[in-house]
Amino acid sequence: MAVTSVVGLQWGDEAKGKIVDILTDHHDIVVRYQGGNNAGHTVCFNGVKYKLSLLPTGILRPGKIGVIAAGVVVNPRAMLDEMERVRAQGVEIGENLLLSDRAHVIFPYHMAEEAVMEAARKGEAIGTTMRGIGTCYRDKIGRSHAIRTGDLYHAASYRKKVAEITATKNTILKALSPDFQPLDANAIADDYAKLAETLAPHVVDTTRYLHQALAAGKSLLFEGAQGSLLDIDHGSFPYVTSSNSSACGIHSGSGVPERRIEKMIGVAKAYTTRVGGGPFPTELNNEIGQHIRDVGHEYGTVTGRPRRCGWFDAVATRYGAMVSGVDTMSLMLLDVLSQLDEVKICEAYDLSGERTMNFPSHVEDLAEVQPVYRTLPGWKQEISHIRKVSDLPKQARAYLDSIAELIGTPISIVSVGPDREQTMMD
Ligand code: IMP
Repeated sequence: MAVTSVVGLQWGDEAKGKIVDILTDHHDIVVRYQGGNNAGHTVCFNGVKYKLSLLPTGILRPGKIGVIAAGVVVNPRAMLDEMERVRAQGVEIGENLLLSDRAHVIFPYHMAEEAVMEAARKGEAIGTTMRGIGTCYRDKIGRSHAIRTGDLYHAASYRKKVAEITATKNTILKALSPDFQPLDANAIADDYAKLAETLAPHVVDTTRYLHQALAAGKSLLFEGAQGSLLDIDHGSFPYVTSSNSSACGIHSGSGVPERRIEKMIGVAKAYTTRVGGGPFPTELNNEIGQHIRDVGHEYGTVTGRPRRCGWFDAVATRYGAMVSGVDTMSLMLLDVLSQLDEVKICEAYDLSGERTMNFPSHVEDLAEVQPVYRTLPGWKQEISHIRKVSDLPKQARAYLDSIAELIGTPISIVSVGPDREQTMMD
């Protein structure tokens, strides 16, 4: 596998970390290209659970390189804390971790702004992770208030920028929230200068590095964060994250042209979950939804929030697969559905009396659609020990076949538990 990508097809939390971890074995370099420490990737092996947020999952495997590319937004303190946490679990982090000097930096005022803005939206809050992701990306696009990792090493201009930006942010935040306590620009500049010093050995031009690696025949694995339906341009706007979290972000975020990717793997759960606000057509606000939440441990890795749970939505997932252009799918957490009498797949939407397989572009239409379900018998037996798709109960195989047919994409990986071993691959 020379150049591969792993991308979520739903609203995030599809257990991509597990697939990235397994595929890392066959690749030299693992690349994060968008998002930041809003992501939460859990990987289990040898009875140990590793929780990653900003670091590429590949860092857990000895001899592999993890790259945080230009399109990621980086909170340096969160990054160093995560490095320490993972080191404490026995993982080596040194020259194997690279951070782009083009990656934008998250500052304390980004978190402060996000808290004020989310509070102001009241009942329509996006339900963000409060990590300053959206506010940092907004400054990147706006350009005048942005600081990139490379800027931290140009002392004079860096201090001037922090002073100017903090002054502006203090004015805005005070106007929006009279109780706001102004931030101290000098303290921020000193703090971030120290953090930058510690991070310095990792900071490089990752775009150049990745192209040199490709020229040298190295294999790359692109690790998507969040999911295709949270994509800023193609997702369920405005209830999305602020980056291109579909495969669209690979090219812009890493600088590696998409045509270099030989295999695109889309990851989906055997059901659907969502954290935060926004329409969710197949949501189950009943005991089945609670059952899925309990059995699937559906609580956010980053924020601990209970995830909203519902039936598999083939309309939404098919759209995610189309936008990301996936070749094959990996279906996760199939074991979570094992005790149900019957399982449902949303095969179409009913929008104002019209049946459609199209995923609406407007959030109000998405809020209005009624799911049209295909109901299948459950398998009512434990499957987490099974290692071959052909050994699955026939009802579980029928469920997989229905999903593959509705998405129009073959399922090449099936996961029936958190461990590396609990995976069936074609
Ligand atoms: P933000 O990325 O913190 O700005 O949050 C925007 C939306 O994306 C919120 O609904 C979050 O819950 C959601 N989100 C962000 N990161 C993740 C993730 O890793 N998994 C699932 N949802 C996420």
